[in-house]
Parts: sequence; C-alpha cells; structure tokens
Amino acid sequence: MNLMRLDRFLALCGRGTRSEVKKLLRAGRVTVGGNTEKQGERKVDPDSDEVCVDGKPLVWEPFVCLMFYKPQGCVTATEDRSAKTVMDYIEHPRKKELFPAGRLDMDTEGLLFLMNDGALAHRMLSPARHVEKIYFVRVEGEITDADAEMLRTGVEIGEKHPTLPAKLTVLRSGQISEAELTITEGKYHQVKRMFAACGKRVIYLKRIAMAGIRLDESLMPGQWRELTREEKDRLNVQKG
Ligand code: URA
Repeated sequence: MNLMRLDRFLALCGRGTRSEVKKLLRAGRVTVGGNTEKQGERKVDPDSDEVCVDGKPLVWEPFVCLMFYKPQGCVTATEDRSAKTVMDYIEHPRKKELFPAGRLDMDTEGLLFLMNDGALAHRMLSPARHVEKIYFVRVEGEITDADAEMLRTGVEIGEKHPTLPAKLTVLRSGQISEAELTITEGKYHQVKRMFAACGKRVIYLKRIAMAGIRLDESLMPGQWRELTREEKDRLNVQKG
C-alpha cells in the first residue's frame, strides 16, 4: 500500500498546481470511490482507490519515463553547483522522482532516458546486459577501411580488455567523416576513445538510439516527451 494525500495525487496526475487542485476539490468535482471528497489531506491509495475528476477516472502510472533530447552544454546529473543540468529542461508533475539512466558527456547530445525506476536503470546499464546504443559520430579525417575493421572487431582503449565488437556504418569519408556506431558497452568517453585509438578526433557526437528505442525526430535539443506504452514495454523487456 502506497498512501498519499489526495491533493498530491491529483497534482501528480497532472491535474494542476496545488492551488488549482484545491479549487477542483472545493468545487466538488473530485470523487473517491464514488463519493465526493473536498478534503485535500485525505489519504488515497493510488493502486486501489478509484479517484475521478468530473466522473472520469484518473489512471495512476507507477513507471514514468521521458525521452529527452539532451542538448550540448549541460551535465547529466540531477544537481550541479555551477553547470546547467539535464533536469533544468524538465517541467513535469513528477520531476522529483526522475533521474537520468546513464550519462552523456557535456558536449554530447541526443537520447537520454529520465526515469523513476532505479532497478530498471541499473539493468539497462549493467555491462552484462549488452544493451545497444547507437551513435552518430563526426570525426576529423578519413575513416579508412583499416579503422573500420579495427572498430568493428575491437580496439584497445586502455581498459583491461579491448572493446567488444561494434557495428559501424560509414556514411561519409573525407577530411571530415561521418558514421553510425552501435556499441553494447558504456565505458567512460567510450566512443571518443574508440576513435582516438584510430587516431581520429570526434568533433560531434549524438546518441540516436538506445535499447531499441530511437530518439524521436520531432524533438529539438532540450525537448522531451513521455515514452509511449509500446516504448515502455520495450524497456521493460530488460527486466527479463
Ligand atoms: N561515448 C562518448 O565518448 N561520450 C558520450 O557522451 C557517450 C559515449
């Protein structure tokens, strides 16, 4: 049982600020188990009590997960003394529950999940799970066949073992080259270190997919949306 105040429950379901919720309650528009309830401090169980506004039941979703297009120039943390964090971009009734699942460097942009399920985040990031991440990479210099072969089979980046085999699609090769790289690990600065091992400097990095979910192309840097039911189910497969 997970009891919470009715006014808090209404606010967390997106029914407005505390004062807007108070108005709803005072107007007699809220029922609990079919009975009008005007007291915000009354406790409800979101999993079993039927709470309605204007006769329509509110659906309590325990799992909250946002797809966030992290822009460059912010840190992947919930708090930081001096820098802007990813959380500074989020306005959501349940923001306080959310944290980033994994991290992207300050100068990396792209897909980041913000969620409230610590166990799921832990599984998604566990090295043993080999969850796929796809990056769009722009580097200085030409990606030669030899580089591509090295990246695909595994490179030494100063860890105990070489990197695991990666998928590489070279999109453009020249003075500036572009590629898509799929990796199943998440070591610190992994993509930059992999290309550095081939003598190439990464000048732009964007994560475009993770765990089979692609960054929504309609999102602009700094924007987010909730995951769809289908996307949430796909993430939850990690529970197996
Ligand atoms: N690899 C990197 O080098 N940086 C990131 O932010 C993510 C993957």
